Amino acid sequence: MSDQIDNVLHENRSFPPSAEFQQNAHISSREQYQRMYRESVEHPEVFWDRVARDLPWIEPYEQVLDWSDAPRARWFTGGKLNASAVCLDQHVANGKGDKVAIRWEGEPGDRRDLTYRELLTEVSRFANVLKARGVRKGDRVAIYLPMIPELAMAVLACARIGAIHSVVFGGFSARALRDRIEDGQCTAVITADGGWRRGKVLPLKREVDEALEHCPDVHTSLVIARTENDVAWQNPRDVWYHEAVREVADTCEPEPMDSEDLLFLLYTSGSTGKPKGIMHSTAGYMVGTYLTTRFVFDLQPDDVYWCTADVGWITGHSYIVYGPLANGVTQVMYEGAPNAPAEDRFWDICERHGVTVFYTAPTAIRAFMKWGDEHPQKHDLSKLRLLGTVGEPINPEAWMWYRRMIGGERCPIVDTWWQTETGGIMLTPLPGVTATKPGSACMPFFGVDAAILDSAGKELGADQGGLLAIRKPWPSMLRGIWGDEQRFRDTYWSKWPDRMMYFPGDGARRDPDGYFWILGRVDDVINVSGHRLSTMEVESALVSHPKVVEAAVVGRPDDLTGEAIVAFVIPAGGVTENQSVTNELMEHVATEIGKLARPAEIRLTDALPKTRSGKIMRRLLRDIAAGRERDQDLTTIENPAILDQLRGNA
Ligand code: PRX
Repeated sequence: MSDQIDNVLHENRSFPPSAEFQQNAHISSREQYQRMYRESVEHPEVFWDRVARDLPWIEPYEQVLDWSDAPRARWFTGGKLNASAVCLDQHVANGKGDKVAIRWEGEPGDRRDLTYRELLTEVSRFANVLKARGVRKGDRVAIYLPMIPELAMAVLACARIGAIHSVVFGGFSARALRDRIEDGQCTAVITADGGWRRGKVLPLKREVDEALEHCPDVHTSLVIARTENDVAWQNPRDVWYHEAVREVADTCEPEPMDSEDLLFLLYTSGSTGKPKGIMHSTAGYMVGTYLTTRFVFDLQPDDVYWCTADVGWITGHSYIVYGPLANGVTQVMYEGAPNAPAEDRFWDICERHGVTVFYTAPTAIRAFMKWGDEHPQKHDLSKLRLLGTVGEPINPEAWMWYRRMIGGERCPIVDTWWQTETGGIMLTPLPGVTATKPGSACMPFFGVDAAILDSAGKELGADQGGLLAIRKPWPSMLRGIWGDEQRFRDTYWSKWPDRMMYFPGDGARRDPDGYFWILGRVDDVINVSGHRLSTMEVESALVSHPKVVEAAVVGRPDDLTGEAIVAFVIPAGGVTENQSVTNELMEHVATEIGKLARPAEIRLTDALPKTRSGKIMRRLLRDIAAGRERDQDLTTIENPAILDQLRGNA
């Protein structure tokens, strides 16, 4: 794709923070932001040293940053700390043990509050269960759970003993889970009998059982009892958590971890079929998530914070588990769907728990708009003081609705741009400083040297669409792709070969005021409801079906989900009016990857448009899928007659 990207959006509205918000904010003036920002990029070692001193180190570090072996960054070298102690022990030691850490609510309406002291005890017991099952420092543990408190506990228990967690979102299929377990060579799995979703039980253990048929190296499957549905059992591999936990002690010393020891793997999609195990290490990640949470959400001691993401994604890792807990905040955690039992569930939760800071995704906001104003209007949302969004570009209409209907025209909105790979927020407004513009992720966070470049590495001027680049390392950056160093270098660090700069894969522009506007992916990654899927991954799922000869997958704009998946498929035996094949193929993709990857539309065709060299012309397919007519250069197309069929099959 060319790096000159069309941009059609021009937005002139701007919303400065209220004087009241500004007065109490951690960062409250433009001068303060600029002074700190300048220091953070010109003298990162000074800036980050000051931040890192807030964390409880077991042993001090020697050097803030070692970039000599780029792109392998080493932050806070020689230091030792433990992420679970940052999140828990320090608060208990500082007299905050009785503060509520997690106010959990299950979809059926059951509740559980955990103070920092209680959470520390639960995590320690969980850690002891893992140890008793032979899990050791450096082992990989797959976690496949619903959004129950045990999910946060499991993550922190791994961190406590130095095991590397690999959380797999509960919506992924057995096949996707198996691929991730195999790639990470996990030796233990933590799951539940099931989880609640829209009144139904998601049978998680059943998926695990199926996945583990192919994973002989997994010695333990630790099962939390949540839904009490029937489950199959395999001794001695399967262990009920509630039984195992009776046998262990309530305390567990946190393992002293080297700054660069891995904290977790999290799989994400890239532009090839195979998901990438993104590696994050301990100290830099903790420093980055601690500071971004504190400043972007402007956390104050009596805030009630709620991030609606699932811990199966990076947003849940950084902004449910590690960042908020490192800051000692009280947060809400919710298990289920936003429309269970009714479309006002989120607003009901906000009202009942007195939520003050609320962080969600644009796709959710668009669903709320569609469901109607009456749902938020039924509830008192006056405690809210700050709103956030993440995961995909937010259209100005949804932004304005969010501001008016949820934020009562008073709450600043932080539109945060970042990625699994960046570990923490990179572009964002600072709520006490930035005059926000609907649809813009605004400014680089501290330490983030962001620029818009062309493919030759030249910095582009105002309003020119180009490639987003991060020119300097930052603490919470990824440390690699598990088992694939070359792919790590090729994907992220080779776009501008003569300079070691990070390429996130997004297009963007900067307006004359210096605000960043994300234009979306420039590679073959589709963003459906804020979830990253690779076109190739969906294609290989399709062609694994015996009735498919070839498939090409593209994204088309969708009012609700941002993008929707459209697949062009050549069926074995040629095109017939066969609805059941398309349904069967949609189900097949859902089984292979998960429901989130199910195509919205499948068009059967006898051929795909290709260049003479045999490359599928995806740009053309994108236009056809979106119903766009655009003059395109068709001189390179090998089989122009196919276009009519592709269009006509709509
Ligand atoms: O394209 C960008 C989009 O989501 C991608 C990262 O996806 P993932 O690793 O799954 O992480 C999502 C949660 C951090 C990015 O490359 N994206 C994320 N946030 C925004 C966004 N696009 C526009 N605006 C955002 N605020």
